[in-house]
Amino acid sequence: MKVSVIGCGYVGLVTAACLAELGHEVIGYDDDPGKQAALEAGRLPLFEPHLEELAARHRRSGRLRFRREAAEAYGAAEVLFICVNTPPLPTGDADLSALGRVARYIVAYAPPATLVVTKSTVPVRTTPALAARLASERPDNPFQVASNPEFLREGTAVRDFLHPYRIVLGVSSKTAEKKLRAVYQPLLERPFHCPLHQPCTEPPPPVVVTDAVTAELIKHAANSFLALKISYANALADLCDLCGADVEKVVEAMGLDPRIGPQFLRPGLGFGGFCLPKDVQAFYRLAERSGYDFSLLWEVDRINQQRVTRFLDKARELVGGLGGKTIAVLGLSFKPDTDDIRFAPSLAVLEGLLREGARVRASDPQAMEKTRSLFPGVAYTRDPYQAALGADCLLLLTEWEEFLHLDWSRMGQAMKRHLVVDGRNCLDPAVLKASGFTYRAMGRPG
Ligand code: UDX
Repeated sequence: MKVSVIGCGYVGLVTAACLAELGHEVIGYDDDPGKQAALEAGRLPLFEPHLEELAARHRRSGRLRFRREAAEAYGAAEVLFICVNTPPLPTGDADLSALGRVARYIVAYAPPATLVVTKSTVPVRTTPALAARLASERPDNPFQVASNPEFLREGTAVRDFLHPYRIVLGVSSKTAEKKLRAVYQPLLERPFHCPLHQPCTEPPPPVVVTDAVTAELIKHAANSFLALKISYANALADLCDLCGADVEKVVEAMGLDPRIGPQFLRPGLGFGGFCLPKDVQAFYRLAERSGYDFSLLWEVDRINQQRVTRFLDKARELVGGLGGKTIAVLGLSFKPDTDDIRFAPSLAVLEGLLREGARVRASDPQAMEKTRSLFPGVAYTRDPYQAALGADCLLLLTEWEEFLHLDWSRMGQAMKRHLVVDGRNCLDPAVLKASGFTYRAMGRPG
């Protein structure tokens, strides 16, 4: 099928490359000229595992092209996926101005009977509102409009696309359902020739077919529930600190109950990134506008916002004041395997450390460049042992694989004082203790 993907951020690029992998002819379009120029020159503006090789393969196969002419991108599509940004406004509501621009281009260029699909996370009822707008501005053109929310995690987005837990189709007609099923058909067949691990033995994903409003709500409900689980674990961590209990054992035992499950119960610095924080707020606002007081979500957000304060309190207490001290920071991205620092707890940690007069030396496998432009006063080094040189204390903010296997006796030689605060509860307290470190974590006895 001829597919256009509008918006070439994380979601759009992964969607475009994976749809090309499924055999479709894909055009990617973004109205940011810098991004478009990079894409046309064969460069990806972001890091995501497997994306580069997949995109390169399908540029070569000719199934993935990037175009800067809106007429070309919008004018050729049988199915048009909207993957534009919906960032938060100061009120917490989603900013839908990019979606408005897309609507204008659809009206101007899209051919008759294009299936328009919202993939970006949008407030409930956005898809029907878009359908109504297109119908009123182009009464001659019977656009189909559907919602097909994405559930991609950064760092595993290609895998999540090719092996989804479910595919949600929010449609208002059998024609739209049939077209969308055809888009995803290769994922539903067995054998599926997965480029990541052949042969694929997993059963095909379930397809949930519903209306667009319900599909939009599913996305918000799922993300907010994940955030709720994390905040629950973090509230338990604070309680464990007060009671002298070990939160890691608490969540391990809880997660063994299949009704609860172990995932998204990891306590620490809380959830960051461009999805969970903004989605929780947007869902809260949506509920409020719809007449439902979803204060449970308010609490989820409040607990999350307290994480950095709690963490800095621990560091300050352990070091004996942060002013004038040298602090090594390991991990800047909001989670491992991504260079994304949007709403990363690291930003608030750096801000707090600098505000209190600490000298900061930071290391991260992917996110140093992006952080440097926001915090030029921090010393950056790729080598974690260099970052630790002369440090009074080491703060671990992101659980990158390489930080889990550090040589702590080497770290001990590099550092001035042997103090560690682990914001992700990912280090082994026994190993640190054996290497002469004083170790603090979140809800775990030192
Ligand atoms: C999320 C959703 O998982 C995905 O389905 C949706 O489409 C987009 O939003 P993402 O933002 O990439 O994906 O990250 P995710 O893996 O969900 O992690 C979000 C944040 O929660 C990270 O900061 C992570 O460190 C934190 N987290 C996650 C915890 O603090 N504890 C956990 O147990 C799990």
